[in-house]
Amino acid sequence: MGAKVRYYCRVKALTIAVDGYASCGKSTLAKDLASALGYRYIDSGAMYRAVTWYLLEHRLAAEEGPSLQAALDKIVLDFVAKDGSTVLTLNGQEPGLALRSMEVNSMVSPVSALHSVRIAMVERQRAFSTRAGLTMDGRDIGTYVFPEAELKIFMQSRPEIRAARRLAELRKAGELQWTLDEVLTNLRERDTMDSNRDFAPLRRADDAVDLDNSDMNQEEQLAWALDLALARGAVRP
Ligand code: CDP
Repeated sequence: MGAKVRYYCRVKALTIAVDGYASCGKSTLAKDLASALGYRYIDSGAMYRAVTWYLLEHRLAAEEGPSLQAALDKIVLDFVAKDGSTVLTLNGQEPGLALRSMEVNSMVSPVSALHSVRIAMVERQRAFSTRAGLTMDGRDIGTYVFPEAELKIFMQSRPEIRAARRLAELRKAGELQWTLDEVLTNLRERDTMDSNRDFAPLRRADDAVDLDNSDMNQEEQLAWALDLALARGAVRP
């Protein structure tokens, strides 16, 4: 008689970090992966955008000091399900497309470089961690927020493709005045600032897998990433 075989469950819910340059489609991929796997999705960039928007709305300077700290203490951020997607709320309100405006695009990198802003956001990002599986996109997710993430993807795509995507997004939001060159300049400036700040800069994690999606569509990039996630044991929780 053969010995009784005991099966152990080896599959698990992963933490998946998607990092990379501005407007590469990180959010699209991280969102698609989360919905394919039944994981939670968190857009860390939206959190830095929300802080920036709050400072602009309240005419507060983007500099360290008591008024920045007071603002950070007051800001409550959450992600709530809406129309089959997740949207960010700030103190219970939805800033929506205002987060993607050119005004926010121009301020978000200096705001994100402030030490107290990063400390406050990273603490909140880690609190979103769940045993049920998480995808989070940003700049420092694989290097700083979740260095232990089971899958790290580092994305890039050709600058003119990134700028065209962002221009289309701005037009959709009713900002018709920007040119492709202006958008491209903003992306380049943000990438430079994000890569050169002192604390948790934009950097490829040593154990990240590279993805250049310049010549891929949304379905192709999802299929590519799902293969990787499944190979690392991902399952629906
Ligand atoms: O969508 P896009 O790639 O243009 O940007 P985003 O992911 O919404 O991030 C906006 C900005 O937030 C970035 O340019 C960074 O300055 C900052 N950010 C960051 O510092 N760290 C993160 N983990 C995510 C975003």
